[in-house]
Amino acid sequence: MDLGLTGKVAIVTGSARGLGAATARRLAQEGAKVVITDINAELAQATTRTLRDEGLAAHCVVGDITRAEDVQNLIDETLAHFGGVHVLVNNAGAPRDKYLVKMSEEDWDFVMNVMLKGAFLAAKAVMPHFINQGWGRLINVSSRAHLGNPTQANYSAAKAGLIGMAKALSMEEGRYGITANCVAPGFMDTEMVQALETYETIKERAVAAQPIKRAGRPDDIADAVAFLASERAGFISGEVLHVTGGRYG
Ligand SMILES: NC(=O)c1ccc[n+]([C@@H]2O[C@H](COP(=O)([O-])OP(=O)(O)OC[C@H]3O[C@@H](n4cnc5c(N)ncnc54)[C@H](O)[C@@H]3O)[C@@H](O)[C@H]2O)c1
Repeated sequence: MDLGLTGKVAIVTGSARGLGAATARRLAQEGAKVVITDINAELAQATTRTLRDEGLAAHCVVGDITRAEDVQNLIDETLAHFGGVHVLVNNAGAPRDKYLVKMSEEDWDFVMNVMLKGAFLAAKAVMPHFINQGWGRLINVSSRAHLGNPTQANYSAAKAGLIGMAKALSMEEGRYGITANCVAPGFMDTEMVQALETYETIKERAVAAQPIKRAGRPDDIADAVAFLASERAGFISGEVLHVTGGRYG
C-alpha cells in the first residue's frame, strides 16, 4: 500500500530515541523528509546520522519543546531546510510517577509542560502552514494511561488531555483538509520504561493483561502513526488508535 508520504515533511518531537526515533525512521522509509527534534542534543544528532547513513532524509533540530522560542526555531529550521511542513507527531514525553500524596506541584507541572504545553506550542506553530497548503496531519502520542493508572495522575491527565486537544483540532481544522488523531500505546519496551524501578513488574502485569502476549515494540507505534499520517487516512479524524495488544482497561 502506497501511503502517499513521498516528499512530505514530518516533524517528530522527542525523536532521539524510543517510539519517536522508530516513527521518524518509518516515515522516512515511506518517503517523508523527517525532522528529528529532541532536548537531548547528542542523541538527536546520533539518531539523525544513523538515519542519513541508511539513506533516509533526516535533519536535526535540537530544542526544548516546552519553550516557545525553541519551537519557533524548530519550524523556521524545518522550512529553511526542507521547504515545508506536512506532518506533526507530538511524541515528546516524560513521566514523573508518584502517588498523589507524594506528587509535588513541580512533578505535576513538569509532565503537563512536556506533554500538553509542548504539543500546544508545536501544533500552533505548524497549523498556519497546514491551513495554507490545505493539507496536514497531526498525531498526538497519547497512552492507554488516558484511562488511568495508579501513580500516574499527572501522566494520565496529560495523556487524556492530548486526546481532547486532537478531537478539538479535528473539528476546528477539518475544513482545511487537516486531520488530528491520537495513538494510544500500551506497554512498549523502550528506555523510558526500562529506566523505571518497577520495570519488570509493570512489564509482567501489562503482558498478562493483554490478549496478545508480548510487550509492544517501537515499530508497532511507528506503523500506526505512519498510517494516520498517510494520504490513506484522510477520512479519519478525532480518532484514538489503541496500540495495546488488545488491552483497554
Ligand atoms: N514506552 C511506553 O510504554 C509508552 C506507552 C504509552 C505512551 N508512551 C509515550 O510515548 C512517547 C515516547 O515514549 P518513549 O517510551 O519512546 O520514551 P523515551 O524516553 O524513550 O523518549 C522520549 C523522548 O522525548 C524527549 N524529550 C523529553 N522532554 C523533552 C522536551 N522538553 N523537549 C524535547 N524533547 C523531549 C526525550 O529526550 C526522549 O528522547 C512519550 O510521550 C510517552 O509518554 C510510551
